[in-house]
Amino acid sequence: MTAKNQGIHGVWKNRWTFILAATGSAVGLGNIWKFPYITGENGGGAFVLMYLACILVAGIPVMMAEVLLGRRGRMSPIHTMEHETKEQKAPGIFAGLGWMGAVAGFFILSFYSVIAGWTLAYIGKMASGEFTQATADVAEASFSALLADPWMLLGLHTLFMVMTGAVIARGVKHGLEDGVRLLMPALFIMLLVLFGYALTTPGFMQGFNFLFSFDASKLNSDSIVVALGHSFFTLSLGMGAMMAYGAYMPGKASLTSTVVTVAVLDTLVALIAGLIIFPIVFTNNMEPAAGPGLMFQTLPIAFGALPAGSLIGTVFFVLVAIAAWSSAISIAEPAVAWAVEKGIPRGRATFLVCLLAWLVGILTVLSFNVMGDVKFLKGTVFDNLDFLTSNIMMPLGGVAIAVFVGWFMRRKDVAGEVKMKDKRLFRAWRFTLRYISPLAILYIFIKGLG
Ligand code: PHE
Ligand code: NA
Repeated sequence: MTAKNQGIHGVWKNRWTFILAATGSAVGLGNIWKFPYITGENGGGAFVLMYLACILVAGIPVMMAEVLLGRRGRMSPIHTMEHETKEQKAPGIFAGLGWMGAVAGFFILSFYSVIAGWTLAYIGKMASGEFTQATADVAEASFSALLADPWMLLGLHTLFMVMTGAVIARGVKHGLEDGVRLLMPALFIMLLVLFGYALTTPGFMQGFNFLFSFDASKLNSDSIVVALGHSFFTLSLGMGAMMAYGAYMPGKASLTSTVVTVAVLDTLVALIAGLIIFPIVFTNNMEPAAGPGLMFQTLPIAFGALPAGSLIGTVFFVLVAIAAWSSAISIAEPAVAWAVEKGIPRGRATFLVCLLAWLVGILTVLSFNVMGDVKFLKGTVFDNLDFLTSNIMMPLGGVAIAVFVGWFMRRKDVAGEVKMKDKRLFRAWRFTLRYISPLAILYIFIKGLG
């Protein structure tokens, strides 16, 4: 089975290719769009600290476990979990883990593609010079006009979904390796340019303090749930994406350093994005809790003020779109890989997965205009899809992965996979996975529901 599946899907060339691909999956809209906007909505510093704590206590340990499972199983998450559950004689319910992940993937891809469509629109807006010397009012009006146009949003959503499908259909490795190798350094450089601009704004210290000063009174159980959920969303955890990529990871590569590298890069990108966006917010007397539009209403102001801003802005949104692209591919891969193992040709499997996610995505398109007043539970349909996947399904998948690897997998199998030279480090990780990660996740869950 193992060898056969390597034949079907292939293996990354080396450890670096896995790091590139996993970073491509992790770094995306979660860092540049979502992290700043939920930080704004949840009051800043205390939320950021909670998010960082969740990355350490749950994100990194669970990511190691998830990649480990994928590399051991060498199959799609659905088949890996079915196989490992039997192999480790674990309770049958764990066999369903891959399925929950695939369902979460459909939901995530559905709205991810819509938001990614906005970044495509902003490539055009930037290139047209619309934001030269733009004020906050101009930037806000431009964004509102985009959201008010369902046909436009639908067209962009469709375009992005087609782009995503085109890469997946060719096989993850071909489309991805080269793209990500170029993208990551370029994105980093652009972020540093913008960071340099943010440093010169009068609101820089206010933005900095907003992000990093801890005010415990702003912590409530709701924002803790969001922080936990985001730590999973941003690291692409708990729904099979990392498991699917782990399945293509070469056997010899070190799991620990690889995973830590990806997590550190992802966190850095998010924090830098925050350090760009919040100084602009405060300098222009904008609202930190502006919601999903935050990035789209702030960054154009920065570009409008910079020399050659239209050009830099165009390049920047191209990079964000590519980052979203490389993430979207990994969101769909678990379901596509499963279908391929079932004998469906890769092209057809891709078409079906993308079509389904595209259809569900129409609900998100409408959440920002025609169906904007349709609110229940957490808000619009988009709000609910986001909450259900990030804050419920992904952490739940994370607990299950931690418990499976921590409690049900034979210790020697686990040790054989991670191959940590430092025995104390291995024990510390396994202890975290057995006790700390699941208890922390469950505790936050119960507080959030109560
Ligand atoms: N981690 C990606 C981001 O931050 C989103 C993602 C979620 C990717 C789930 C894969 C799986 O944008
Ligand atoms: Na991310």
